[in-house]
Amino acid sequence: MKILLTRPLHDFAIKELKKRHDVEIYAGKIPMPRELLISRIKDKDGLVCYPYDNIDEEVIKAGRKLKAISTFSVGYNHIDVKSAIKKGIVVGYTPEVLTRATADLTMALLLAIFRRITEGDHLIRKNKWNVIFGPYEFLGTDLYGKTLGIFGMGRIGRAVATRALGFDMKILYHNRKRLAVNEEKKLGARYVSLNELFTKSDVISIHSPYTPQTHNIINLKLLKKMKKTAFLINTARGMIVNEHDLVFALKNKMIAGAGLDVFENEPISNKHPFTKMKNVVITPHSGSATIETRSEMARITVKNLVLALSGKRPMYQVKAQLDH
Ligand code: DGY
Repeated sequence: MKILLTRPLHDFAIKELKKRHDVEIYAGKIPMPRELLISRIKDKDGLVCYPYDNIDEEVIKAGRKLKAISTFSVGYNHIDVKSAIKKGIVVGYTPEVLTRATADLTMALLLAIFRRITEGDHLIRKNKWNVIFGPYEFLGTDLYGKTLGIFGMGRIGRAVATRALGFDMKILYHNRKRLAVNEEKKLGARYVSLNELFTKSDVISIHSPYTPQTHNIINLKLLKKMKKTAFLINTARGMIVNEHDLVFALKNKMIAGAGLDVFENEPISNKHPFTKMKNVVITPHSGSATIETRSEMARITVKNLVLALSGKRPMYQVKAQLDH
């Protein structure tokens, strides 16, 4: 069968695909231009795509022979899953494998912002480290005893809660559905309303999927409810937060800072307002970017596609669009 990859994947993964299928790999500038994608998908049975590819109804319709789509990501908001399912196309994704790496990056951002890690690094590199060990110099914030508010208590939210417990933080959460009582006990987490999450937390961390229901759900109205000393962490999807409102809240010191791995439009440039703010730590959408995790994601992406194309159930199949 014929397969299209919208960018190169690990060598071992491509080798695996080539053993069974006729593979075409787009190797130009990312993302693959839309017109090219629409023309190249026409004779393909399978597609490997990435979170920045827009696999909408038009692309899916153009793929007249398409039987399977496999995304190299846990998020699948870039795929019109309803249209795909309607056409009998199987959609595969890569959950579970990236839970730990993304939760680790969340904690890295949290620690970086609480303890001013990147700020300190920049200070030394600019030769501005003048005061040694001053009692009031370069103070950050303790994690101990602080309240972490988790928005979206799925796999990654729960992995973050487990890590935060190790730092003696208190955990509040808000989710579509409340967890079972024993699960809450294990995580030491208390279910609260969105309002309470934003008013009570010292740091909010976002771990919900991006859906029409979560689009810009975190906006000025909610940011205004946060403590002036509180931080916002986002390793989920940029569009869950109204970025314009977040910039406004940070500029006007309505909140103390942010740690961000995802943005409204990626990649952002060094002209973006976030790059001018000392109290914002930014990373380039690297939640799952570890050697081990990305390699395992590649293995699963290929396995999902190969299984689906041979009429079998993929390892991880998107069942329907999530309603948040
Ligand atoms: C995903 O897989 O959706 C993540 O955003 C990648 O880091």
